[in-house]
Amino acid sequence: MAPAIELIGITKRFPGVIANDNINLTVAEGEIHAICGENGAGKSTLMKILYGMQPADEGVMRVFGEEVTFSSPNDAIERGIGMVHQHLMLADQMSVIENVILGSEPTKRGVIDFDAAKAHLAEVGRAYGLTVDPDDYIDTLEIGERQRVEIIKVLYRGAKILILDEPTAVLVPQEVEELFNNLRELKQDGATIIFIDHKLQEVLEISDSITVIRRGKTVATVAASEVTAGDLAELMVGEELPSPETGASTVTTDVALAVTDLTVRDDDGRAIVDNVSLQVHRGEILGVAGIEGNGQSELINAIVGTYAAETGSIEMAGRDIGSASVRERREGGLGYVPQDRHREGLLLDAPLWENAALGHQTAAPYSKGFWVDRPGSRSQTQQIREEFDVRTPNVDVSARALSGGNQQKLIIGREMTAEPAVLIAAHPTRGIDVGAQADVWNQIRQARANGLATLLISADLDELIGLSDTIVVMYHGRLVATLDPAEIDPRTLGSYMTGAALKGDA
Ligand SMILES: Nc1ncnc2c1ncn2[C@@H]1O[C@H](COP(=O)(O)OP(=O)(O)OP(=O)(O)O)[C@@H](O)[C@H]1O
Ligand SMILES: [Mg+2]
Repeated sequence: MAPAIELIGITKRFPGVIANDNINLTVAEGEIHAICGENGAGKSTLMKILYGMQPADEGVMRVFGEEVTFSSPNDAIERGIGMVHQHLMLADQMSVIENVILGSEPTKRGVIDFDAAKAHLAEVGRAYGLTVDPDDYIDTLEIGERQRVEIIKVLYRGAKILILDEPTAVLVPQEVEELFNNLRELKQDGATIIFIDHKLQEVLEISDSITVIRRGKTVATVAASEVTAGDLAELMVGEELPSPETGASTVTTDVALAVTDLTVRDDDGRAIVDNVSLQVHRGEILGVAGIEGNGQSELINAIVGTYAAETGSIEMAGRDIGSASVRERREGGLGYVPQDRHREGLLLDAPLWENAALGHQTAAPYSKGFWVDRPGSRSQTQQIREEFDVRTPNVDVSARALSGGNQQKLIIGREMTAEPAVLIAAHPTRGIDVGAQADVWNQIRQARANGLATLLISADLDELIGLSDTIVVMYHGRLVATLDPAEIDPRTLGSYMTGAALKGDA
């Protein structure tokens, strides 16, 4: 039987980098095949080529034994290949069924035939054991449910081969388990799955085979049952992993950030942040746990100043900043790693050195008087690049040209080098590979020892537990529990986040 996918000698060059350097990949029909590798190794590039989003410079692709050339994703879809991107691409204001049929609407006498679409959706759902309600609106769904809609959308189009780029990055453990159950079921029904993931335990749990890519080259394809996480990490980086330093508590009694009785309402008047009070001291990392949609985003937006609070106060080092502008807050020592790096963190089409100055453009070394200090900005960016290991040919390429993990490292580097007094960090290591993750944790810990107060929001519960001095749980807009990270495991924390522990059935 011909393999589902054969990629032979795939090469893709970008200015200054060879993203894929003569890569070979064989994926057998009906297997779950993981692609692992450091940030910038070339994983997404390879998958985009396979999905027809960009052409390879060299190489041959075969799908079920037949040689193919794709000039657009439509060509790939026609061959039974579907892709779920890391940034979910659903339209929030539309229903599930509208999203599923978007771009391939069935019509009857010129109007969209929703009944036929729903019937087909139900059939696909039954065949693969995935259920969604066609009439739900996307913006009412949890992240895990939205992802399920993306997967169904791909199956609806007849995909037999599914590509998922970092599907678990945005999920809590319970949702990851559900996703994995879905993937196993899909596999049972004959689907072939290729997925990218930085969490090696997850990779070992779900996949049959694993291909490791390092700096654009295939290093090895191994059976998941024959390797450990340590083996994988070594294959990825070519050496043993650094283990993050843990330090003694550095928490002081100086309040660096105080939020008192804060309430934020959404457009419908619902209290999405409901009378929240918290304090972060110098030298402290306060972790906020919560499933997406429970008010964490609105809480940090209110602190950063992009959202207006209805009532309550926000103070930094005793100074009320509640009515200060975003810029004034930033200049006053507030660092911010946003949760959506594409929408809030970067100017994708601007060069790295401009991105490094974002939010700090009014101060040295990025400016002199009223003027942008180009040489100053460029050398500062160069320094961030070295210290935070941002892999790029130079600091003049656009942010768009960086791999996902390297974009994130640039943002972390920018915020940390500004030496903030308070850092609001949302998913700081999302999409960062295991080696670089340990580095970022060390950077945050070092800054903490020097007095940095951090408010940490993360969907990675190991990160929350490993970094935080204290964890608070946010549920339906309220802080409902305060936990000691030394005494809690991800599973228990997860049940606080879903509200189960609060109802007594943890
Ligand atoms: N459009 C582009 N223009 C220029 N360079 C690019 C472009 N897309 C990717 N690259 C470069 O190709 C290399 C591989 O990037 P890719 O996105 O495939 O990495 P990745 O393995 O997916 O990494 P990550 O884990 O960080 O997502 C990187 O050096 C990246 O900067
Ligand atoms: Mg990628």
